[in-house]
Amino acid sequence: MNAIEVRDVTRVYGKKSNAFSALRGVSFQVPLGATVAIIGKSGSGKSTLMHLLGGLDKPTTGEILINGTSLSGLRRKAMDRFRARDLGFVFQSFFIEANQTCYQNVSLPLEINNVPLTKRKAMVEQALEQVELFDKLKSKAGNLSGGQKQRLAIARAIVNNPRILMADEPTGNLDSATGDKVIRLLFGLHKRLKSTLIVITHDDELAAHCQYQITLKDGQIVSFKGPQGASRLAAPANATASAAPVPATRRPSPPTPTTTPRPTRRRVV
Ligand SMILES: Nc1ncnc2c1ncn2[C@@H]1O[C@H](COP(=O)(O)OP(=O)(O)OP(=O)(O)O)[C@@H](O)[C@H]1O
Ligand SMILES: [Mg+2]
Repeated sequence: MNAIEVRDVTRVYGKKSNAFSALRGVSFQVPLGATVAIIGKSGSGKSTLMHLLGGLDKPTTGEILINGTSLSGLRRKAMDRFRARDLGFVFQSFFIEANQTCYQNVSLPLEINNVPLTKRKAMVEQALEQVELFDKLKSKAGNLSGGQKQRLAIARAIVNNPRILMADEPTGNLDSATGDKVIRLLFGLHKRLKSTLIVITHDDELAAHCQYQITLKDGQIVSFKGPQGASRLAAPANATASAAPVPATRRPSPPTPTTTPRPTRRRVV
């Protein structure tokens, strides 16, 4: 099974004369457990794509499947559950609650997921320990340094042992030493949890660490690099009932067999 299948996805912001196509016919697939870098210049559509992958926004046309489930088929509650259970998301601008403690920030996804209080405590502590912020458990998140905030955002993203971990420029605002630490942390987690890891990055070193490198330019994929035998294209768009009309900008690619998927990992939560 593929962890992610993106089929002819477009995202148009605004209407009529203000309409802007941030994504123009994007298609690709990656297997379970893959590490994927999404690269491209500012404004090329990386965050837009990531938000669609995380179910935070919907494509204008096209379809996205995560672990075989079509996101367009999920109602709001099911989408919230999917995000809380299967997904860890590190946003470009952290989105941590400055007035809450580190503990409260990391605990949030578990509360949404109805994890019992007794279990929650151990999970939050373990996540904070992994990002070396255990000593800041009771500190207000707003008082942390930039690098610490980034690590707190990662702790919150990993606390539910997500099957898919997404990070939007996790090293963007960090000095190189702290950035290296964050990279090691993300890949260590990928190894331990066998999660699929998707990172948006301008950092060549981080991109080179990933098995797949997908380059966006003006809302289209201009380069797709993966291990030998990897195929870029998802199954044909007519494979499901909700397949969207093929946009004019669709780039033709052969529907070749994909790489051998890794074994499904056990569910931890
Ligand atoms: N809500 C919105 N309304 C209108 N245009 C938007 C909106 N969000 C993003 N855009 C535009 O869509 C394009 C892609 O934006 P996106 O945030 O995906 O870029 P990015 O590749 O993540 O850039 P960066 O590296 O600077 O973070 C940009 O031109 C941006 O101005
Ligand atoms: Mg961005």
